[in-house]
Amino acid sequence: MDWKEDQQWLDMVEKNLYPPKQFVFEKEIEKLLKEYDFGNKRVLDYGCGAGKVGLLAKKAGANVIGVDVSEILLSVAKERIAVERLSTQKTGFDDDYFDFIFCFMVLHVVPDPVLVIQELSRVLKPSGKLLFAIVHPFSVSWDENETYSFDQSQYFYKQKRKWTFHLKNNKSFQADYFHRPLSFYYSAFSSYFVINRIDEPTLPTRFFHSKKYAPIEYLFGTASKVVCGDNS
Ligand SMILES: C[S@@+](CC[C@H](N)C(=O)[O-])C[C@H]1O[C@@H](n2cnc3c(N)ncnc32)[C@H](O)[C@@H]1O
Repeated sequence: MDWKEDQQWLDMVEKNLYPPKQFVFEKEIEKLLKEYDFGNKRVLDYGCGAGKVGLLAKKAGANVIGVDVSEILLSVAKERIAVERLSTQKTGFDDDYFDFIFCFMVLHVVPDPVLVIQELSRVLKPSGKLLFAIVHPFSVSWDENETYSFDQSQYFYKQKRKWTFHLKNNKSFQADYFHRPLSFYYSAFSSYFVINRIDEPTLPTRFFHSKKYAPIEYLFGTASKVVCGDNS
């Protein structure tokens, strides 16, 4: 199990070479995290990458552990948060262990998100919260001028696609991801979580050559665990 774009992702994150649209992601994450009290809470950052989001929760008082499949990314993340390497979707944590789980920009890069969602539900406390983000299924393709295009005819197909990151240093790289329609994610979540909220932040049009649209890039959500049992 690996993520082959990890070195390029690391270079982008560590050298602050994000494309402008990435700032929307950062702003949204900061806004979302401010809504919760992380003091002395246990947080799992699943697919933590270089650990930057986990670090925000740590600074807010949480005990954070990041897990990831990438040795390269974990070697940097461990300077920020506690980390463990994953070799399968299964973590070694006890049932009902975490108060919060972050799963930012991971579900669309894994081949079987249902297995991940199931595992996240297992290790989340019944009162816990899952905070997640994916590439929005209505997200756009970019040419080198960052021009908007969305091909509706392909929406319902589950496909491997490429996301292009046009970096500030005029270089770019591509990363594979899985496009899946919204109904796929809804069904994948529904046996394990109740989705409490969905946010669809639009990108500022000033970043794009075409001013006609306010394009969407990310879908953010929060979810609570489905707790089975006697409700009487
Ligand atoms: C797009 S990066 C997002 C990193 C970080 N969560 C963030 O928001 O900055 C995707 C991350 O998912 C990790 N990843 C890929 N496959 C995974 C899997 N099967 N289980 C856990 N993490 C995985 C990658 O190594 C990478 O760190």
